[in-house]
Amino acid sequence: MRYVMKGGNPLVGEVVIGGAKNAALGVLAAAVMTDETVVIENLPDVWDIDVLLNAIRDVGAVVERIGRHTVRINARSIGSVTVNNEFIKKIRASYYLLGALLGKYRRASVALPGGCNIGSRPIDQHLKGFRALGATTVVEYGMVNAEAPHLGGGHVYLDVVSVGTTINIMLAAVLADGNTIIENAAKEPHVVDVASMLNSMGANIKGAGTDVIRISGVQKLHGTEYSIIPDQIEAGTYMAAAAVTMGDVTVRNVIPKHLEAISSKLMEMGCEISEFDDAVRVVAKKRMNHTKVKTLPYPGFPTDMQPQISVALALACGTSIVTESIFENRFKYLDELARMGASAKVEGGNIAVIDGVTRFTGAEVSAPDLRAGAALVLAGLAADGCSVVEDVEYIMRGYESFAEKLRELGAEIRLADNDKDVQKFKLSRSI
Ligand code: EPZ
Repeated sequence: MRYVMKGGNPLVGEVVIGGAKNAALGVLAAAVMTDETVVIENLPDVWDIDVLLNAIRDVGAVVERIGRHTVRINARSIGSVTVNNEFIKKIRASYYLLGALLGKYRRASVALPGGCNIGSRPIDQHLKGFRALGATTVVEYGMVNAEAPHLGGGHVYLDVVSVGTTINIMLAAVLADGNTIIENAAKEPHVVDVASMLNSMGANIKGAGTDVIRISGVQKLHGTEYSIIPDQIEAGTYMAAAAVTMGDVTVRNVIPKHLEAISSKLMEMGCEISEFDDAVRVVAKKRMNHTKVKTLPYPGFPTDMQPQISVALALACGTSIVTESIFENRFKYLDELARMGASAKVEGGNIAVIDGVTRFTGAEVSAPDLRAGAALVLAGLAADGCSVVEDVEYIMRGYESFAEKLRELGAEIRLADNDKDVQKFKLSRSI
């Protein structure tokens, strides 16, 4: 599937942000750790969430979607600790079921995770964490197997700050016999959200949001009703959309604190930012200024916003330097952006030198991954003429109603199934 769009309209108006996909994935895994019923609200309606819900259903839990953004899960009937359904390999977060099932049933077997192709994505730290709790881990025939007849507490020092590892160890450790300390833990808002959800189920986790997390294992967890935090990256993407299209966008239902790294970078580039209790307004009145961006773990600038800010910089005055320090292969989209007229070169794999151009021109490009796909759409909305972004299935993994929300802000964008739809759109725009 592809999006076809005609660029040039400044995006103006309000957009309501949904629940955080990457928090939701951890929260859904946590939900299977009790035999009581869990209700999760503010769940984003995106493909990655559907995949995880299907996997949870496949192992025997009862999963009922009781609204577009609400799900009820009861995992009393789980009959298998092996997760290997058709799609699970495609999402990174499948590994959260490893931590959750290991904690609850003391063993688990999950297909090796996939996810966006943004460089090598090892799971050595996850396995190191499980081993510190007393589990044995074996990777064979494409499956990760973990087993711990006695799951105890442990002391884990993470060699890299890893969101997935921090959440996974928390999941396993909340039901371990004893105390666990995770040092050099990730501090991302979604780590805090998963910890809050687990605590609302009766877990005892302290220090989430700092780099030392302490967990006292409890005997069992109980049911809860939990509402997921707003998505920092969805919000940041619409903030970048305002900058890229010289627009005026208010993103609603956000936690402005989570957006500070993004807000301050956009301010440096010349945007006007106003913060409200649960909204942020971004106004871009003139061409952006160049700057330097380096991705870092939270509270640094998020790697998941690197492509979107780079698109804004590719239209800014002067030369910008963007350093990607989390993933090794997250600049592939720059070749696609070059088709629209951007001028950028990648040095040493993780530094992009971007010379701002005054305009993009419409082109056919394809989305190499989720965030880069969204960034290319923003570029197309700024470009003169029509653009087509192919492979938007990636974007649908993490953005709910992307085209609809952009259209409400004044964008001319449609989902097109085939070339005929694309031609029809282009024709309608050329009259
Ligand atoms: C999460 O991935 C997110 N995914 C990613 O979002 C996000 O880009 C990333 O965190 C960083 O914020 C989900 O939450 C499902 P990491 P994760 O473990 O947990 C290295 C999106 O677009 N590492 O924090 O897989 C790793 O290679 C996606 O929504 C190890 O070396 O990322 C990377 O360099 C894309 N060994 C660094 O740590 C390990 O065992 C951080 O990765 C684990 C990670």
